Amino acid sequence: MGLGTVAIPEVTKFFAEGDPHEIIRFALENFSPRIAISFSGAEDVVLVDMAVKTGGEFSVFSLDTGRLHPETYQFIDKVREHYGIPIEVYSPQAAAVENLVKAKGLYSFYKDGHKECCGIRKVEPLRRALRSLDAWITGQRHDQSPSTRTQVAIVETDPVFSSPDHELIKFNPLAKWTSQQVWAYIRENNVPFNPLHERGYVSIGCEPCTRPVLPGQHEREGRWWWEDQTKKECGLHVGNLER
Ligand code: ADX
Ligand code: SF4
Repeated sequence: MGLGTVAIPEVTKFFAEGDPHEIIRFALENFSPRIAISFSGAEDVVLVDMAVKTGGEFSVFSLDTGRLHPETYQFIDKVREHYGIPIEVYSPQAAAVENLVKAKGLYSFYKDGHKECCGIRKVEPLRRALRSLDAWITGQRHDQSPSTRTQVAIVETDPVFSSPDHELIKFNPLAKWTSQQVWAYIRENNVPFNPLHERGYVSIGCEPCTRPVLPGQHEREGRWWWEDQTKKECGLHVGNLER
């Protein structure tokens, strides 16, 4: 399946209002079953909740970097049980992790940036997860990161993970939603969430690279706080930096 004769600009125009329910329905109608939700945080459970309610076929995967908080591991299983769906968990290549740790220790990212570690623990597993798919769905939003995500498209040809012989479509159905809309949906629909959100964490990634934020601080300030704002993409969405 695919978008067929429908061009991406037409689809984008059609979804100008950015209603996530309609976008998800459209995505599943056109790509089931070779479509997956990339799951880790609050936005992604909203996507799972909406997708389950369409009755369409899709898969869910999560990238286990080996460095997530214990609460996040429990949350993954909570979502699995709540919706009665499988969640495919991808781990990094053991040899690559071992080589990095042997050469540079367990916290090299504080010294020379997160790119190398994220490449091994997130991006390579993501490539494997995407191999058997024609489309993926992420929870990216415009207001998540003023420096890198304000231009995120509702639907696009994945600029990084497509290849000349395999076009991969990327849906970002929540692109136009604010954090307030996400959390209103979570409360109204009794959607499970990571208990770390009750302790000041907003945007949650790996444990050593995430910290709570203070009132008024932007959520992205809790991620890779020792690095330049404009470099805060880990490789999953590195296309955002090239827009
Ligand atoms: S990140 O690139 O900076 O880590 P962020 O945490 O903002 O991303 O999440 C944006 C979207 O990327 C999520 O909504 C989700 O779709 C995807 N994502 C991020 N981390 C993971 C992960 N560990 N496993 C699967 N998907 C992820
Ligand atoms: Fe490594 Fe931090 Fe990236 Fe996680 S977020 S993969 S610990 S650099």
